[in-house]
Amino acid sequence: MLASLHTYLSLLKTKITSFKTSKNILHKSLYYSTFILWKVTSIPYRFLFSAEYRSLILLKYFKGEYVHQISNYTTYNRYPDIFYKTKELIGNKKNIKILSFGCSTGEEVYTLRQYFPNALIIGVDINKHNIQKAISKNNDPKIIFSYKIDETIQNNGPFDIIFALAVLQRTQNRHASTYDSSHIYPFNKFNTQITQLNFYLKSNGIFAIDFADYLFEDTDVASQYHALKGSHNVISDRLMFKANNQRMKNNVLLHRIFLKK
Ligand SMILES: C[S@@+](CC[C@H](N)C(=O)[O-])C[C@H]1O[C@@H](n2cnc3c(N)ncnc32)[C@H](O)[C@@H]1O
Repeated sequence: MLASLHTYLSLLKTKITSFKTSKNILHKSLYYSTFILWKVTSIPYRFLFSAEYRSLILLKYFKGEYVHQISNYTTYNRYPDIFYKTKELIGNKKNIKILSFGCSTGEEVYTLRQYFPNALIIGVDINKHNIQKAISKNNDPKIIFSYKIDETIQNNGPFDIIFALAVLQRTQNRHASTYDSSHIYPFNKFNTQITQLNFYLKSNGIFAIDFADYLFEDTDVASQYHALKGSHNVISDRLMFKANNQRMKNNVLLHRIFLKK
């Protein structure tokens, strides 16, 4: 019953969408009125019935000042080359502490457990809904998830490795029309966050970063690090910005692992 209703609605949607380019004025008006009706009703509907959607909207409007990337997209083993390289660098070192900054729903932390079987792993995320989901899957006493970021970092740091993956960015900065990032996600916010995290990284520690809108090399703390050479570095294939918030003209080599001196 539900399956046939779903099929019927999909067919209806395809039909109405096809009216967008129709020359028939009635068809065209039907398309646009349905489109407006959908937009007006779907947002409150999703807000009421999807906890995830609600968490993203509340984050954007009430914690906009503190939030970096709003999207919580994540997946298991998303950065195998970075994880493998950091594991190699750590070698047999004992009692290591790892921070996954912006861990979303926990997949990154559970992946890290596979690479670092004995480490204490702390996953923090500004979105409480993400952290609740992450905690619901956890039965590992050496994994801690928290949305109380400053407190958790202070209580558990300093760390041997900090991962800041797909956090220090905003999707809007990747729109073709964005030339100046200052009103979306300014360099200053990136620089301040890296500087704060740097405070909680041990000397000889590792800072791994990927999918950021700016270069780590442009931050105030960059001189305390050297970039690790190797095949884990890639040429950027997306829009990036300079410290003056202006869009870079050319693709650059992205260093993704930095070693603290
Ligand atoms: C795209 S997800 C990245 C998840 C994971 N690191 C990965 O690469 O798959 C970005 C996450 O950063 C979190 N985030 C944004 N601003 C943050 C902040 N100020 N402190 C901690 N987490 C933040 C978001 O809530 C979101 O879950």
